[in-house]
Amino acid sequence: MKHLPSILMYDTKPYDREFFESVNQRYGFTIKYLSDRLTDDNAILAKGYDAVCLFVNDYVTPKVAEVFASAGVKLIALRCAGYNNIDLPSVYGKIHVVRVPAYSPHAVAEHTVALLLALNRKVHRAYWRTREFNFSLTGLMGFDLHGKTAGIIGTGQIGRLVAQILGDGFGMRILLHDPYPAGEWAASHRFSYVPLETLYRESDVISLHCPLTPQTIHLINDESLSLMKKGVFIVNTGRGKLIDTKALIQALKRGHIGAAGLDVYEEETEYFFEDHSDTHIQDDVLARLLTFPNVLVTSHQAFFTREALTNIAETTLKNIDDFFSGRSLENEICYQCDMASCRKKETGRCF
Ligand code: NAI
Repeated sequence: MKHLPSILMYDTKPYDREFFESVNQRYGFTIKYLSDRLTDDNAILAKGYDAVCLFVNDYVTPKVAEVFASAGVKLIALRCAGYNNIDLPSVYGKIHVVRVPAYSPHAVAEHTVALLLALNRKVHRAYWRTREFNFSLTGLMGFDLHGKTAGIIGTGQIGRLVAQILGDGFGMRILLHDPYPAGEWAASHRFSYVPLETLYRESDVISLHCPLTPQTIHLINDESLSLMKKGVFIVNTGRGKLIDTKALIQALKRGHIGAAGLDVYEEETEYFFEDHSDTHIQDDVLARLLTFPNVLVTSHQAFFTREALTNIAETTLKNIDDFFSGRSLENEICYQCDMASCRKKETGRCF
C-alpha cells in the first residue's frame, strides 16, 4: 500500500485549515496544523514528519535546516510564491523545496490597484469622514490616472497584470524594468522597457513586483527616491525589504512622496497576520509610517482571495504528492536553478 506522507504545517490560521482540509479530502495525507511560526526552537517538532509546510514568515535558517535534516524531513513545501525566507544553500542536497509559483496573480495585481486607487482618491480618509457626518471634500482631491505614467519594476505574472490594468484599462503610459524583458508581450501592449533611472525619473506611479534578492534589497533607497518625481506614488505588494523604510519616511517627511501603498513591510514578521491592537507597538519605524495620512498599510493581504487560497492548497498538496510519488517536481527551486549544476532539466528534480 502507498505510504501517505505526514505533514507538519507551521503558522496556520483557521482559513488555511479550512481550505487545506477541503482539498486534502482527495489526498488523505496526515496534516498537523500548528499556529506558531517556525523558529530555531520549534523546528524540532518536525521530527517524525515527512514534510513541513511553511508560509512567508517562516524562516529556514541554517540552524533550522540542520534540525529538519536530522529530523528526517524530506520536503519543504512552501504555500507561497516568494522563497526569500529559505536559506537555499543550507538545504541543498538534503531537503527538496517546492513552492506555489502562481496561485492568483490576479489577486495581487487587483490589490495593488486597490491601494493605488484608495490612496489617490483618499478613500481611506473619506470612509472615516462620512461616518462622522463630515461631508467636506477639502484635502481629498486626487488626479486622473489616465494619461499619467506608471513604472512597473518586475514584469513576471503579477507585474504584467498590473501593467495591463493600468495601461490597457486606465490609459496610463507604461514603463517597465526587468533584467529578463518580455519584449513581445510589451510590444503587443505598446509598453516600453527602460533603464531603471528613466523609470524613476518619468513615473508618476511606481509599483514593485520583483522578488527579493541580494540585488533588489533596498532597491528603493535615498538615491533612487531622490531621482523620482515630486509627488510620486509608490506601491509595494512585492516584499518589504525592497524598500528602505527609513529612507521612505524621510522622503515622506520632505513631502517628496505623494503616497505610499504598502502591503509588505521589511520588519513585518513581528506584527503582520496577528492582532496587536491591545499591545504597545515597539517598532518605531512602523509606528511612524502609520502616522502619515498618505500612507496606506495592509497586512500582507494582497494574495487573500478565495480563489488564491484554493489554488494554494491544491498546488501545495499536488507538489507533496508529486514528490512522494517519485514524479518530476515542476515547482521545485534551489539556489543553483540558474546554473548548469541544477539537474531539474535532466531528471525533473534539482538534485
Ligand atoms: P514572477 O517570478 O512571475 O516575476 C518576477 C519578475 O521579477 C521576473 O520577471 C524577474 O525577471 C523580475 N526580476 C528579478 N530581478 C529583478 C530586478 N532586479 N529588477 C526588476 N525585475 C526583476 O513573480 P510574480 O508571481 O509576479 O511575483 C512577484 C513578487 O510578488 C514575488 O516575488 C513575491 O515576493 C511577491 N508576492 C507578494 C504577494 C502578496 O500577497 N503581497 C503574493 C505573491 C507574490
